[in-house]
Amino acid sequence: MNDGGVLLEALDVERTYRLGRDVEVRALRGVSFRVEHGDYVAIVGTSGSGKSTLLNLLGALDRPTSGRILYAGTDVLDLTEAELAELRNRRIGFVFQSFHLLPRLTALDNVALPLVYRPGTTRRRRELAAEALAAVGLADRMDHRPTELSGGQQQRVAIARAVVTDPDLVLADEPTGNLDTATGQDIMALLEGLHAERGTALVVITHEREIAARATRRIELRDGVVLQEAG
Ligand SMILES: Nc1ncnc2c1ncn2[C@@H]1O[C@H](COP(=O)(O)OP(=O)(O)OP(=O)(O)O)[C@@H](O)[C@H]1O
Ligand SMILES: [Mg+2]
Repeated sequence: MNDGGVLLEALDVERTYRLGRDVEVRALRGVSFRVEHGDYVAIVGTSGSGKSTLLNLLGALDRPTSGRILYAGTDVLDLTEAELAELRNRRIGFVFQSFHLLPRLTALDNVALPLVYRPGTTRRRRELAAEALAAVGLADRMDHRPTELSGGQQQRVAIARAVVTDPDLVLADEPTGNLDTATGQDIMALLEGLHAERGTALVVITHEREIAARATRRIELRDGVVLQEAG
């Protein structure tokens, strides 16, 4: 729901990767910013500036070295394993550049996967997955495996999987990076449609200026810090 208010907040977040004994990479060096309910934020910055690192932290896939990530006011570090699983499974949807679909499963079963922890019958889960696939224009491809789909279709399956739980937030890491321009525009239109219709907050990492220009806000990272935040 787009009811205003802070959904997610990063407070002075640092993430240092340790490689062996002596080598450290300070991927994020004190990043603070907020995502409001129903926001549409583009994260931009050169390769290696820390964009994916930040997105993984926002999605509770990784933990900050210091600083805090607050989800609806609660520090993600204070959540139990069950609460974390619920957050990752139901409240947040992920879309990646390389789709990350399970190769042995059909489109339908890939999309139904995030629903497995939810009470209800397999039949109901498959119905919900079928609805999500129909919403991304793939009603006629449900039984295809990922290798039997085009790149754009695979990304649409990934979007259906990200939104089948009706999350508050979709995090997308260069969702159009492996697609041609026209297909990339279709994918962005799809994500923007979900944002507009359901009020799902959208945070998208992109290298493409035209895509960044469509967001309501832009965050620019450089060398692990926020260089500027433009409305
Ligand atoms: N698992 C890891 N272990 C060690 N260093 C890492 C790891 N992941 C990322 N890094 C380093 O952290 C820095 C930030 O990486 P990150 O993947 O966040 O960049 P990015 O902005 O997403 O770049 P790109 O646009 O190329 O995807 C880079 O210097 C990278 O080499
Ligand atoms: Mg990246």
